[in-house]
Amino acid sequence: MSAGAGAKTAVRVREAAADAMARAYAPYSEFHVGAALQASDGTVFSGCNVENSSFPAGICAERAALAAAVVAGHRQFTQMAVMTDAKEPTSPCGLCRQALVEFAPDLQVFSFTTSGAEARWSLADLLPHPFTPQSLRHT
Ligand code: THU
Repeated sequence: MSAGAGAKTAVRVREAAADAMARAYAPYSEFHVGAALQASDGTVFSGCNVENSSFPAGICAERAALAAAVVAGHRQFTQMAVMTDAKEPTSPCGLCRQALVEFAPDLQVFSFTTSGAEARWSLADLLPHPFTPQSLRHT
């Protein structure tokens, strides 16, 4: 893939995260998050945070996107974009890192703010020494 095509793909994923952020249901924290996960065939799945009056029942944007992708039959992913209106780009929380590593240990994570800041990490950097399906092996 050319550098130009790669950049176009990244814009598509970022825009999907921005659209998802606009649908966030976050009346308690008022922290709106959108996420978009690109499957290895290029399909993009998005999610937003969905809070609940019973606070622990809420779900993060990243895991909502992952669930949407998995139910559509995808299990391999290349990149994720996260969008918030925080001051600095935010990285996925610990629970989301664990959920993502199950399927995409090589995932690239891009994070954007609505004011134009951005950051990029590999999931391997965000979650070193992960617990994986292989970790469950007894022998
Ligand atoms: N949140 C996400 O959606 N993703 C993250 O990675 C961090 C936090 C949501 C959860 C909750 O609805 C709100 O942001 C404040 O924590």
